[in-house]
Amino acid sequence: MEPDATSPSASESNFGHRHLLGTEGLSRSDVSQILDLSDQYVEQNRQVDKKAGVLRGRTLINLFFENSTRTRTSFELAGKRLGGDVINMSVSTSSIKKGETLIDTAMTLNAMHPDVLVVRHGDSGAVQLLAEKVNCAVINAGDGSHEHPTQALLDALTIRRRKGHLEGLNVAICGDVTHSRVARSNIYLLNTMGARVRVVAPPTLLPTYVERLGVEVHHDLRDGLTDCDIVMMLRLQTERMQGSFVPSMREYFYFHGLDYDKLAAAKPDALIMHPGPMNRGVEIDSEVADDIDRSAIHEQVEMGVAVRMACLDLLVRNQTAPWGLNR
Ligand code: NCD
Repeated sequence: MEPDATSPSASESNFGHRHLLGTEGLSRSDVSQILDLSDQYVEQNRQVDKKAGVLRGRTLINLFFENSTRTRTSFELAGKRLGGDVINMSVSTSSIKKGETLIDTAMTLNAMHPDVLVVRHGDSGAVQLLAEKVNCAVINAGDGSHEHPTQALLDALTIRRRKGHLEGLNVAICGDVTHSRVARSNIYLLNTMGARVRVVAPPTLLPTYVERLGVEVHHDLRDGLTDCDIVMMLRLQTERMQGSFVPSMREYFYFHGLDYDKLAAAKPDALIMHPGPMNRGVEIDSEVADDIDRSAIHEQVEMGVAVRMACLDLLVRNQTAPWGLNR
């Protein structure tokens, strides 16, 4: 069934969440529900007329305290394609620069009755804190090095469409796991869906508790890629590093950067992924990143819009009417 302009097809949704703060709290059926609906939005986004009416009369505010290209644009497009009013708050020109606290900013926006707040913040836990204070649905668009649920969902959608399933796949998440919210959200989600996850990084870029997340640990990229179906590369998040975690970028690329030579250890049809932004020549070789037969990097961006439409759709359907009764 394909969603049309007036009656997209999640009307019997039983998505039991008010917010989307992480993948840690999502069940297998939650994830499948989001991915199934996303598949429909992928089709819709490939039509000339991409508009649906699910968010008609609703307001989405994008509140980004950290830089973003893909995620912010993708939420904006998703909100607009669903017929909602979308506002992008630019933190650099807001009262936050005058010393207003996160909670005061959130309460001010809340008083304007948005239906969804999409928030990115540099501190782990900040988005959860904000969600506890407002009446509307909150989507975590990345909090510190904690979670980035829509990135993991779009990665899962990309993999499921390419490989047909998630269960039983060997997925290697490689690079700066310590600072990566993308890694954490992917580990929770992929484990829930029955994939086998490995993390591959030098010890300095792995959190000490990492095995407890249910992953296999490798320090050598060739070892970690052996027999793997999916190679997910991560950016070195230098903006979150205090001190030096790698000897030099050159040495990092030599030992831990993905090139054809190291990729040869993976399955011949292994899919290459990267959440972006990429640092070419640091964690990934340009030739590999641009290999149209192996790399799904642009497809991930396309899937991102569809996944965000599905998440917005499921969350607004879940809101009780009239809005804010539970104040
Ligand atoms: C990621 C993020 O912001 O966590 N990017 C993204 O959302 N596409 C990964 C990163 O910044 O390296």
